[in-house]
Amino acid sequence: MISQDHISTARNAMYLPNSILFFLLGLPLFFVLLLIPKKKYAEIHSSSQQNELDQRIDDIADFVSETDRVLDVGCGNGQFGEAIAKRLKADVRGVDVVDYANADIPITFFDGVHLPFEDNSFDVIIMAMMLHHVPHQEELIDEAIRCSRRGLIIYEDTYFSPWQKLAIIWNDFYSNRVIGLVRVLKGLEGKAILKMPLPFTFRCVNGWQKLFAEKSLTNKNTIVRHLGIKPHSKVTFLLQKKGSV
Ligand SMILES: C[S@@+](CC[C@H](N)C(=O)[O-])C[C@H]1O[C@@H](n2cnc3c(N)ncnc32)[C@H](O)[C@@H]1O
Repeated sequence: MISQDHISTARNAMYLPNSILFFLLGLPLFFVLLLIPKKKYAEIHSSSQQNELDQRIDDIADFVSETDRVLDVGCGNGQFGEAIAKRLKADVRGVDVVDYANADIPITFFDGVHLPFEDNSFDVIIMAMMLHHVPHQEELIDEAIRCSRRGLIIYEDTYFSPWQKLAIIWNDFYSNRVIGLVRVLKGLEGKAILKMPLPFTFRCVNGWQKLFAEKSLTNKNTIVRHLGIKPHSKVTFLLQKKGSV
């Protein structure tokens, strides 16, 4: 089943001025965020993160079963993995290349290319908002296919026009380097978060689907979300490995 894999002409047109607006708002917003007291800022951030994690879990609830062994590749602070473990009662662990872990799941660090696990070690492998941080996407996806028994779940930021592509590149820089700096300055995050690689390797929905077909992954569902007036679209792919049931 495919949901909303297109964008309306009106939304696409609206994203052009809005991309410019969000770019211009970046600098004043940085100072506003710095001025918000740490406790208030942490509350706002945690409530918006909770909504995002809840929505992500809603997308995958039928794809992940209780007691499934799940690997979250590029798990970051690990809080998404922890939320999956709690809500879906799965056995979740994470791997990453940068250590800013802050969650109650086991997390290990690796070279960013070779997953340090045997073939078929996990039921499902999750790659959430991490593939656009990876220049060697195909190698890492091959590794995820090797280590998964049933399939992959991929969440990404995506675009439907050249200006929306520029807008999500700006957003990625802004959220990781600028908001990252705000969080480090407020003492809410370690400096390691600022080392996250930013190669901006985004793809459009069709670009991802073509790649998954080349890798013989069956696309069980594609869910696209547009974030209101912000020129930002997100996609979730539920992908079944060839030969699995
Ligand atoms: C935007 S964060 C996403 C974190 C988390 N998955 C989430 O959704 O909240 C991207 C993460 O990918 C990690 N990353 C970058 N390159 C990687 C690689 N080659 N292998 C594994 N993780 C990588 C970064 O260190 C970072 O933690």
